Amino acid sequence: MSINILAIESSCDDTSCAVISDGLLKSNVIASQKVHEAYGGVVPELASRAHQQNIVPVVSEAIRQANITKDDISAIAYTRGPGLLGSLLVGTSFAKGLAIGLNVPLIDVNHLHAHALSQFIKENEEDEVPEFPYLCLLVSGGNSQIVLVRSAEDMQILGQTIDDAAGEAFDKCAKVMGLPYPGGPHIDKLASKGDEERFKFSKPHIPDLDYSFSGLKTSFLYTVRDGIKENPDFIKDNLEDLCASLQKTIVDILLNKLKKAIRQTGVKHVTIGGGVSANSAVREGVEKLCEKERVKAWIPKRVFTTDNAAMVATAGYFKYLNNDFCSLDRPPFARVKL
Ligand code: KG4
Repeated sequence: MSINILAIESSCDDTSCAVISDGLLKSNVIASQKVHEAYGGVVPELASRAHQQNIVPVVSEAIRQANITKDDISAIAYTRGPGLLGSLLVGTSFAKGLAIGLNVPLIDVNHLHAHALSQFIKENEEDEVPEFPYLCLLVSGGNSQIVLVRSAEDMQILGQTIDDAAGEAFDKCAKVMGLPYPGGPHIDKLASKGDEERFKFSKPHIPDLDYSFSGLKTSFLYTVRDGIKENPDFIKDNLEDLCASLQKTIVDILLNKLKKAIRQTGVKHVTIGGGVSANSAVREGVEKLCEKERVKAWIPKRVFTTDNAAMVATAGYFKYLNNDFCSLDRPPFARVKL
């Protein structure tokens, strides 16, 4: 009999359900919520309501695409946190109801663990996976961390942001330029045509392996404000160069600490995860850095960088093999540490 894990992810503004069979990904359905675009950021109450509308069709479609029936499901994994509490409640309640209805065990997954293990998502038997211990640069809209992953259960944050996350820096600066939310992908696209040396923005001087992005955000804002004083069309006239220079600064900040962490830990493998790891310059930069440092870089497919249930199913499978199940009375948590 196959082990079929059905996983549900609903931590922010993507409703996702995935099925893995004996460790191989069979389906990964993601319904992204467009409703937030008009507001320039995720509106928690609207996110919860959209999850409620999406969850039944998304789960049904994931089961259909996996070519299984509900009775074939061995366990239900779900994201317990961190995330938006209302959004988490929808996924958690649904997962619990399904586990009770099917009489199968429930597995709670830490969203950050799932990101850090996303390189273990296997679409084909021959897909390779990293070796423990490895470093994961986990960069998303809510987190910027360097994580030492010793095993699927044993992870340690070596450094993290003391203020904004890298994704927030992308999104907030995009907002200053009047780009739609989320701004990261727009900046990525525009940056490819710009001059990354044109503008200089401030970089933080933070000790150890921690990050800070709030100073950069302010320096970007001042550059734009001063530019507009001279030329009302400053943003329009310099959009691609602004994006390229901003992106380069963010990537430099991320890679500087990652290099330090590689040298300090002596690991041989490095992975990246979280929405910002979809960024072209981050991916290219990590690859080049790892080549120089003679360590192996694992660059995930873009679909597995942003929020997805495939990574939750994969993290859940590790727990399933360890008989690490959870009780039905475990509540979701908006803030959970790694
Ligand atoms: O992991 P994720 O999907 O969820 C949250 O943490 O909410 O990450 C979303 C973040 C957003 O800040 C978005 O702008 C950023 O990832 N992002 C990108 C790119 N794609 C997504 N940032 C830069 N370049 C991209 N290509």
